[in-house]
Amino acid sequence: MNTIEIEDSLALSVCMKQPVAFERGLGARVWDEQGRAFLDFTAGWGVTSLGHSHPVLVAAIAEQAGKLMQNPNSGFTYSPVRAKLLQQLQQVLPAGLVRVFFANSGAEANDAAVKLARKVTGRSKLLVASNSFHGRTLATLSLSGGPENGARFSPQVPGHQFLPFGDADALCAAMDEQVAAVLLEPVQGEGGVRVPAPDYLPTVAALCREHGALLIADEVQTGFCRTGSFFAVDAAGVQPDILTMGKGIAGGFPLAAFAVTARVAAGVAKGDHGGTYCGNPLACAAASAVVDYLVSHDVAGRVARLGLRALQDLQQLADKYPQLLREVRGKGLLLGLQLHSDAQVSALTEAALARGLLVTPTRNAVLRLIPSLLLEPAEWEEGLGILRSACGDVLARPGTAVRAA
Ligand SMILES: Cc1ncc(COP(=O)(O)O)c(C=O)c1O
Repeated sequence: MNTIEIEDSLALSVCMKQPVAFERGLGARVWDEQGRAFLDFTAGWGVTSLGHSHPVLVAAIAEQAGKLMQNPNSGFTYSPVRAKLLQQLQQVLPAGLVRVFFANSGAEANDAAVKLARKVTGRSKLLVASNSFHGRTLATLSLSGGPENGARFSPQVPGHQFLPFGDADALCAAMDEQVAAVLLEPVQGEGGVRVPAPDYLPTVAALCREHGALLIADEVQTGFCRTGSFFAVDAAGVQPDILTMGKGIAGGFPLAAFAVTARVAAGVAKGDHGGTYCGNPLACAAASAVVDYLVSHDVAGRVARLGLRALQDLQQLADKYPQLLREVRGKGLLLGLQLHSDAQVSALTEAALARGLLVTPTRNAVLRLIPSLLLEPAEWEEGLGILRSACGDVLARPGTAVRAA
């Protein structure tokens, strides 16, 4: 494996300590250069929704690649596969979202959503949540995590206020007629898998309506069945004004999108948004195959069922190892284990890797499990067994930072 610098500050520390170069994948499994198999509970950070190299996805990409990869005159010209995807999205998007724009990454979709919210409302203020994650463009990183996140790249994109996630009273107090939009993840992913109380999102939506502000739901991580409904706002009974999508939308092919209401669409003029690759036919073919599969196989129902079982199993694990595991959280197949320290998370990640299981450390001492949506119950059992053994390994190590804080 070439030793190149890993340029991403959030790159898994485990990769730096224990380099692994993955060569191929199938379903929930990947193989490294030496042919060693790993069970993948990261899904490439929630992207490979149908697992690795699902035949349906491979065939769709290959077929489209043989026909057309990029339209002449890009977004100015018609593409049947793009039209097909738009029709499919219309069937699955929450009511009221009538127009879709494509983008290349989740950050780009959120950036555009914020930009258009300001234009459409004629207001500038944005309310966002601490511990959030919306991307790494200048605007989205300013709106992510907390004030210290963007401060590293000052001056930040101004005009926003961080509020505690899940605190409707704080939002109510901060809301006024200057607010263009509230930008929220329905379930926080990178911030440590945080599921708000059931009345939080409906209250936020009502406050937005009352004050003429837009609600932007960042479903980049939660969308496309990840939390056991097609979109997390469906389960919350909320209709956002803008919904952003990415990650699982195309099962591994880079694509993102955002959908807007008629009111928002009416305020968008030609030239306000676009990009060379937006709605690229190859990406649309991949997403079309994914959406078709998710709908026709009731993947949301499957995820909801396996997710409930997984939460119970993880709770049993937490009861067995309280010195390591403080809390279990999650919805569907977006699951988090709250440990006592980041050092424990690193140790457990490494121990799991050594036993052939890939998991994702995330912020605030949380280990995230975000596997393929098509994970089989037997594969879940296998991964759980490895995690159980890895907990034992970590606790057996003398001198490692595994004491309860
Ligand atoms: C909720 C959320 N929004 C936005 C992003 C950024 O997406 P991307 O990495 O595709 O820019 C992420 C990535 O983890 C995310 O989890």
